[in-house]
Amino acid sequence: MKYGFLGAGHLASAVVFGLIKAGVQPDDIFVNSPASARSLADKTGIHYAEEKQLIGDSDLIVLAFLPEQLKKIIQHLPADCFQNKLIISFLGSTSLDELQKSLPAAEIVRSLPNVNAEFDRSLTSIIFGSTISEKSKQLVKDFFNKIGSFVELPEKDFPAFSAIAGSGPAFVALFAQSLQKAAINQGIDPETALTISLKTLEGSTENLLSRQLLPNDLIKAVASPGGSTADGIVSFEKDDFANIVNRAILATINHGTK
Ligand SMILES: NC(=O)c1ccc[n+]([C@@H]2O[C@H](COP(=O)([O-])OP(=O)(O)OC[C@H]3O[C@@H](n4cnc5c(N)ncnc54)[C@H](OP(=O)(O)O)[C@@H]3O)[C@@H](O)[C@H]2O)c1
Repeated sequence: MKYGFLGAGHLASAVVFGLIKAGVQPDDIFVNSPASARSLADKTGIHYAEEKQLIGDSDLIVLAFLPEQLKKIIQHLPADCFQNKLIISFLGSTSLDELQKSLPAAEIVRSLPNVNAEFDRSLTSIIFGSTISEKSKQLVKDFFNKIGSFVELPEKDFPAFSAIAGSGPAFVALFAQSLQKAAINQGIDPETALTISLKTLEGSTENLLSRQLLPNDLIKAVASPGGSTADGIVSFEKDDFANIVNRAILATINHGTK
């Protein structure tokens, strides 16, 4: 199985690292982009390839450039080069319909992975195009299982999924940074403060997932009535924490609509 990446930015790099950690041979991965592809190839042992060669030689082609680059990139390639090719698009805001119009002869999957792919932890949303075969569907599922897990979603849910799972790593990092700052404010050195913050996030997520708890169960388990954690929760609630998060998700979903 040969994989070809058009684009070598943050997401492509995370997925390439994730595939290699999952056992894919670097020799079976090709990459092309104007500038970054060569250094990604040097770092990982995958191959830089010219676009036409990459498309011709790959069983699965990943579109990992920016949505606004789609037309330009396709325009200068021969019209028939995507004939019967299996294409996975990572393009955040490009609909399945737009992809199918741009690449009418290809089998297309729209997907939204995230940069946690590097650690086998991307929850990816996928939607299959209408022309995709059962065999290709299985190849796509195998691909996403190598970098985490996947969920099939109707396309109407992609913007919300993107805001939470795609942009989410940045929001979680923001919360981690805020916990770190709070620890620094109490006189703890920045390095120790960051370790405390990250290990607390890691342990709490693991606790929720492995014990299959609802968030409120863990809140109740830690915040005994009248205790110090309960005072912290009351303070978050007074500041309308849930709405702060909801507004940030809406701002992310509504990007570009104003
Ligand atoms: N980052 C995320 O967490 C995330 C999550 C979900 C979806 N996405 C989607 O994934 C895509 C990539 O995002 P990103 O964050 O990885 O962006 P990025 O870091 O800005 O990378 C964009 C890549 O596109 C490449 N590119 C530009 N022109 C090209 C061309 N003619 N042929 C091939 N490649 C070309 C760039 O190459 P050079 O570096 O060589 O210029 C760069 O490697 C976007 O469509 C985004 O919506 C990203």
